[in-house]
Amino acid sequence: MENILLITCFLYVSADTHTLQYLYTAVTPGLTDFPEFTAVGLLDGEQFMFYSSSNRSLIIKDWIKKTNSETYWRSETQDMRGNQDTFTNTFTTAMKMFNYSEGDHTLQRMFGCERDDDDDVTTRGYDQYGYDGEDFISLNLTTVTWTAVKLQAVTIKHTWESKGSNKHQKNFLERDCIDLLKKYNRDTLNRKVVPEVSVFQKHTPSPEVVCHATGFFPKALNITWQKDGEDVHKDVELRETLPNQDGSFQKRSILKVPAEELQKHIYTCVIQHSSLKKELVREVPKDGGSDGGSDGGSDGAPIAIITAVVVALVAVVAGIVVWKKKNSGFKPVPPKPSSEGDSSTNNS
Ligand SMILES: *[C@@H]1O[C@H](CO)[C@@H](O)[C@H](O)[C@H]1NC(C)=O
Ligand SMILES: *[C@@H]1O[C@H](CO)[C@@H](O)[C@H](O)[C@H]1NC(C)=O
Repeated sequence: MENILLITCFLYVSADTHTLQYLYTAVTPGLTDFPEFTAVGLLDGEQFMFYSSSNRSLIIKDWIKKTNSETYWRSETQDMRGNQDTFTNTFTTAMKMFNYSEGDHTLQRMFGCERDDDDDVTTRGYDQYGYDGEDFISLNLTTVTWTAVKLQAVTIKHTWESKGSNKHQKNFLERDCIDLLKKYNRDTLNRKVVPEVSVFQKHTPSPEVVCHATGFFPKALNITWQKDGEDVHKDVELRETLPNQDGSFQKRSILKVPAEELQKHIYTCVIQHSSLKKELVREVPKDGGSDGGSDGGSDGAPIAIITAVVVALVAVVAGIVVWKKKNSGFKPVPPKPSSEGDSSTNNS
């Protein structure tokens, strides 16, 4: 649980700033189950693509797939395979510069661009590499040169600059990346997906009713409770909004209420969301019929699954994103088992 919250928090992007970001990771092959090369693409902090060397295929989330043709995504897959080769070559060069020192090594790359809603002129771009969790080489967009942060990156800097990759990358970040970001924002930000809502009772550890909304987009959604038409604020626990695997969101609210109260009064869960013409009202079922079958931890299960999925998908990202937040050097990936999310815990 904690991992999810941290990651969600790190990926948070303010409403006015839009970001397109790519994260590449190469690890010493054969040491772990971790694929030799993985790439993740994030739009406004939301993962939209994943590429792995293990099957050399690109997985595109449905919500963004619609913005382009099949042909486009096929050529993107081709490009990613090329990027894999280029990146693993750089990784080999870097390992050579460090004299092939023993143990597992990682090369990470983080690049992307940002723009503000209200300002079509100011954009920001970056392209940074980290070796074994430390800054290695980065692009300076002012001087249009590569900065070798580590001595071992100097050869790479000279090779890249002789090939003009500094200029090429600047063009990509300031033009193509921004165009792509605008297109993706235009085609996906206005989408509205209606929540699916379920209301059910739980008896353990104490009697409570759960109102669960899932599958909605955009993220902002409000859940409130009413008793005989009057707002209820007491004994309400509103949970954090969590991302689903398909780019939509889920949220739940829990109301602690004695069983006899439920019999005497009409309790309703009220959902407000931009996809809805008017608020959605769901009545709490009487006579205890918890519609998720007999209890059996119906609360924990979905969250545990989501935790596992999210942790798996962003395990690659986590290290680098932590780096971005703390701005104190790349973190080694894959994360050490001890620091990994424990999907067996729930009920924060
Ligand atoms: C690699 O080996 C060379 C030659 O022995 C040495 O000069 C250099 O300092 C070594 N580099 C590292 C990072 O250990
Ligand atoms: C780029 O280089 C300029 C001039 O050397 C320097 O002032 C600036 O801080 C550098 N930018 C980054 C992001 O390192």
